[in-house]
Amino acid sequence: MIKKFLDLGKQPLANKYLTKNDIIKKKREDFYHLEIGLNTKNKLVSILNTISSKKMFDNKYPYRASMSKTMQKSFKDLSLKIKKKFKPNFLMEIGSNDGSFIKNFEKKKVFGVEPCKNVAKITQKMGYKTFANYWDMSLAKKIKSKNKKIDLIYSANTLSHIKDLNSVFRSICHVISKDGILIIEDPSLLECFKKISYDQFYNEHIYVFSLLAIKNFIKKYNLEVFNVEKLNTHGGSLRYYIKRTTNNRFKINRKVKIQLNQEKIFGLNSFSAYLKFKKNVEKSRKKLKEILINLNKNNKKIIGYGSTAKASTVLTYCSINNKIIKYFLDTTPSKVGKYMPGSHIYVKRYTKPMTNESDYVFLGAWNFKKEIFKKERRFIKRGGKFITHVPKPRII
Ligand code: TYD
Repeated sequence: MIKKFLDLGKQPLANKYLTKNDIIKKKREDFYHLEIGLNTKNKLVSILNTISSKKMFDNKYPYRASMSKTMQKSFKDLSLKIKKKFKPNFLMEIGSNDGSFIKNFEKKKVFGVEPCKNVAKITQKMGYKTFANYWDMSLAKKIKSKNKKIDLIYSANTLSHIKDLNSVFRSICHVISKDGILIIEDPSLLECFKKISYDQFYNEHIYVFSLLAIKNFIKKYNLEVFNVEKLNTHGGSLRYYIKRTTNNRFKINRKVKIQLNQEKIFGLNSFSAYLKFKKNVEKSRKKLKEILINLNKNNKKIIGYGSTAKASTVLTYCSINNKIIKYFLDTTPSKVGKYMPGSHIYVKRYTKPMTNESDYVFLGAWNFKKEIFKKERRFIKRGGKFITHVPKPRII
């Protein structure tokens, strides 16, 4: 049974940026009702009204993993670890985006799967074999018929975007070798609840996983988690190392039990923790609105930094529009010159560290706070303030 616990209202598709022409012509945006529920049996948390993959991951998809040094480093560190520890002869990435992970491997040893054709083209041009397809059984069969043994599959921030998780794991089991390893990483539900980062939920993030849920879900595919790592990326993620239950090459690391205990102690297996989260989210909205509206009333100019899907979700939920936040700065060429979905806030090209753009900056990319604060130390030194809603709405 799925029990609803949170309602974030009507939301636009979080990565559907509008062009100037769309704004002039008052183009109708697609909205959906963003509600979140818990599967009480397997503890999987998901959004309740989903959008088709074809609508979300098309040939205009703007997200590029390489836009952040933090992500580049995270992929590089992991690839070194994989080479040292698992020594795969052949590996594949599901959701290879612009190649930030696969570029760390020899071309003949790796290939990518990336359904957004505009993004797949980037790695194809770099010379990496990339299937511009959605991950499903028909692709798995095609890959198996063409390729040698796949010893390792990696997927970051992708499996949580695919509605049919049964198809995902069935297809993985079809291609991976007998003693192959699956490594997945996605935002962690525990971190999301602790940080009250409700913006982890939006149309692309169909699921926010916990170890509890992953463990329950993969059992039927004779898979098990043998190690887990906490990551700072994407606002707090978990990296799961998964193997077949018949593979005795790796022992179950004690970190698995520790993480499970932490999730249980927090209450992720009882519905009251979910209702408490809902209350916290509502408080967070009230406080953030208060901060932004008060600054605006006092004629303070507010801009945004990092035009993220998360920011679109928060601003739409809090009814904050382009009258309150004047524009966003962002480094991603495919977002620059466009308007954010829902709030219609303009995205300006970020060229250099801020000086006198504004005194107040809403941190859309709060998950890159460390990287951004380092870059903007002069702005901070001169008294510039950031506004964040994580873990609590406040001016820093
Ligand atoms: P991310 O948090 O990965 O986004 P989402 O919520 O959409 O998954 O994206 C970070 C965004 O912030 C991306 O558009 C690039 C931008 N950005 C900057 O403009 N400057 C920076 O210094 C950093 C780290 C990110």
